[in-house]
Amino acid sequence: MISKKLQDAINMQINAEMWSANLYLSMSYYLAKEGYTGFASWMKKQSQEEMEHAYKLADYLIDREGTVKLDKLDVVPTGWGTPLEAFEHTFEHEKRVSEMINKLVEMAENEKDYATQDFLSWFVNEQVEEEATARSIVKRIKIAGDAGLYFVNNELGAR
Ligand code: FEO
Repeated sequence: MISKKLQDAINMQINAEMWSANLYLSMSYYLAKEGYTGFASWMKKQSQEEMEHAYKLADYLIDREGTVKLDKLDVVPTGWGTPLEAFEHTFEHEKRVSEMINKLVEMAENEKDYATQDFLSWFVNEQVEEEATARSIVKRIKIAGDAGLYFVNNELGAR
């Protein structure tokens, strides 16, 4: 059975993942409103992935005889100046999420909860990928410049 301390921390992470889902959904609708349908589609898929992360954590709590507590979610931003700003925000946000995951791993290590450490390794690897993807999109948008934005938009629409 998982400890109360780890259970509470994982519940907070579930909340953070669901907040991320709302953040990316909000970005998706901002991008759609601005006419960037490819970016919007990419962000909507990203939002769905964040919900999958929340489910994965919640399912794990159940497997370990824990209790899932879904708390209220803080409001998310609704506007960004440009698609570049939205993706820069995504990159910064993912770096923060990586720190949160690292803290969970640290807590599991301190408690000698080997099952949770092993479970969290999936999230550690996922965060490497999430950061790399966001960083790469920021770079591509910068390289493309205003004229090439249309092509990056089309490219991401294929996700
Ligand atoms: Fe669930 Fe984007 O980290």
